Amino acid sequence: MRLRGRKGIRESLERQPDLIVLDPKARRGEWARHFGNSNPIHVELGMGKGRFISELSLRNPDINYIGVDMFDELLRRGAEKARLAHGGLEEGEGIPNLRLALFNIEYIEEMFTPGELERIYLNFSDPWPKKRHARRRLTHANFLRKYKDILNGRGEIHFKTDSRNLFEFSLNSFSDMGLRMRDISLHLHQDGLREDMVQTEYELKFFEQGMPIYRCEVLIGKEALEEHISSLDLA
Ligand SMILES: C[S@@+](CC[C@H](N)C(=O)[O-])C[C@H]1O[C@@H](n2cnc3c(N)ncnc32)[C@H](O)[C@@H]1O
Repeated sequence: MRLRGRKGIRESLERQPDLIVLDPKARRGEWARHFGNSNPIHVELGMGKGRFISELSLRNPDINYIGVDMFDELLRRGAEKARLAHGGLEEGEGIPNLRLALFNIEYIEEMFTPGELERIYLNFSDPWPKKRHARRRLTHANFLRKYKDILNGRGEIHFKTDSRNLFEFSLNSFSDMGLRMRDISLHLHQDGLREDMVQTEYELKFFEQGMPIYRCEVLIGKEALEEHISSLDLA
C-alpha cells in the first residue's frame, strides 16, 4: 500500500477546489453565491470521514451541504467517499450541492455571517469527559450562542451521540438557553437500524456494538418554532 505523506495529502486537496474549501473564511457571507443558488445550507460540524454528509447531498439535491473538519486526511477521505457515493466521479468533476471545508469549529462565526445557515448537524462530537474541558464540548453555551447567530429563522440543530454524559450535559445546555427540543430519543435504533435516516461512520460502529444512540432536534429559529407549535395544534 502506498502511504501518502502530509505534503501528498495537501496536494490532493489542492487539486479539488470544486469540492474542497481550504480557506472557508473567504466564503463568509458568500456561500449562496458560491453554490450558485439560494437553496438552504446545512452543515455538519466535525464530519469525520464524511459518510453522512455525502449521503445526504445525494438524497437531497435541493439542499446545499458543507462538511467541516480540521484534519487534511479526513477531508481527503471525505472527498473520496463523496465522489464514490455520487457514482464514482473523477477529481475535477464537481458535486453541485456539496463542499468539504477545512476549519476549526471554535471559530465558526468567522466562516458564516448571521442567518447564513438553516441547519447544523452535530454527530458524535467529542464528549470531552473531564469537567475542566466542558467549554470544549460543541453543545456548551458558548458554542450555542454562535450557532444561534449563524442560523436563520428556520434554523435547527440536529444532535446525535453515543455518550450519555454528553447528552445529559447538552439537554441542560439547550434548556438553560431557553431552547425548545423535539423528537428526543434515548435509543434511536432500539427497533433496528432506522433506514429512513442517514447514519455516520461512528453511528454504524456503535449500532453494531448494540450501544444506544441518543438524539434530539433543537429548534432555534422563530419560524421553526412556530411551525412546530402549529403542528402540535393539528395533531
Ligand atoms: C468523534 S468524530 C465524529 C465524526 C463523524 N461526525 C461521525 O459521526 O462519524 C469527531 C470529529 O470532529 C472533528 N473535530 C473535533 N473538534 C473539531 C474542531 N474544533 N474543529 C473541526 N473539527 C473538529 C474531529 O476531527 C473528528 O473528525
